Amino acid sequence: MLQGKRILLIIGGGIAAYKSLELIRLIRRDGGAVTPVLTKSAEQFVTPLSASALAGDKVFTHLFDLTDEAEMGHIELSRSADLVVVAPATADLMAKMAGGHANDLASTLLLATDTPVLVAPSMNVRMWLHPANQRNVSMLAQDGIRRVGPDEGDMACGEFGPGRMAEPTAILAAIQAMISDGPLSGRHVLVTSGPTHEPIDPVRYLANRSSGQQGNAIASALAALGARVTFITGPASAAAPLGVDVVPVQTAVEMLEAVKAAMPADAAVFAAAVADWRVTDAASGKIKKAAGSPPPSLSLAENPDILATVAQMETGRPRLVVGFAAETDDVIENATQKRTRKGCDWIVANDVSPETGIMGGQENAVTVIDETGAESWPRTSKEDVARKLAERIAAALG
Ligand code: C5P
Repeated sequence: MLQGKRILLIIGGGIAAYKSLELIRLIRRDGGAVTPVLTKSAEQFVTPLSASALAGDKVFTHLFDLTDEAEMGHIELSRSADLVVVAPATADLMAKMAGGHANDLASTLLLATDTPVLVAPSMNVRMWLHPANQRNVSMLAQDGIRRVGPDEGDMACGEFGPGRMAEPTAILAAIQAMISDGPLSGRHVLVTSGPTHEPIDPVRYLANRSSGQQGNAIASALAALGARVTFITGPASAAAPLGVDVVPVQTAVEMLEAVKAAMPADAAVFAAAVADWRVTDAASGKIKKAAGSPPPSLSLAENPDILATVAQMETGRPRLVVGFAAETDDVIENATQKRTRKGCDWIVANDVSPETGIMGGQENAVTVIDETGAESWPRTSKEDVARKLAERIAAALG
């Protein structure tokens, strides 16, 4: 997938630097070439020799290396790659990037480059959550810098929380998604997926049986064709795919907000099984079961229809809006009406009667309905359905 692509890999000074050696190996195994750059503090964690041996290339460490300036200046070095990856991106490196500093080779390259940049942050949980760091993180996002991770988990410093660098396989997937030459490269596609959870009180909620598998497969298939995918998911049982920007949400209202925040997009696929209703005035404390008193009654309010809201946007509507229709009776007729009612371009309809085993299962049999009519696809795996749908989306966006 990365054949003919060159990655400039800036390794920052953090304990996760050892994982970046593995990343070099993975990029090369995928056909890509790596030029490593080590910051001064990175050299405390990994040696230039190991990075160079794995990359099979020269490693750059100092700004004022005259030979290199004669052979290839820092400007040239910063622009000769298809992608600049900063892994681990320490708090200090990200602060320098956000502030536009250029006082060593890594920061100078990052300021001089006009190549897309991906950061894989890695730091202690308190550092990650510190307002100064969070300010820098949002500044970098505004500057168009992409991010993978950090993950949540045990840290080398003995604490627990967000701050662990994303695994090398996840960084590789993010790299592939950014620079693979698919028909959707340069396109931004939104995908909603999974169920939503509508709280009754802090411990109870209304939900549905959506596993999120079809949404996952669609997001992966779109990313494999080169799209930048924003994947807005409710609490699904299936883990979110690699190589997409995951935005986790709980409720329908949060999902709509996340969808709006992720716009603009070239296309949007609404595969989420959004709860139709939410509990009005969910209790802030756990509702107690008191002996002799009747069960509480729930009052419900209708949730926003995210698909219809986006499909009917007057400005900024994605060019292609795709909805799903899970039906048990008169599938095509109901779905055709739904397409018109909601104002979307396509509806992917499927029969979720229990005897089909589709809901929660591995396979799907869908009919794609557009303005010209209905096209039924033979029953196949959810991955195949996703691939065909991603190809159809690529063809429609042209
Ligand atoms: O109306 P129904 O739930 O059958 O419509 C299904 C389609 O609408 C799906 O694409 C689903 O993701 C979307 N939807 C939505 N917001 C809702 C309800 C459904 O986006 N509140």
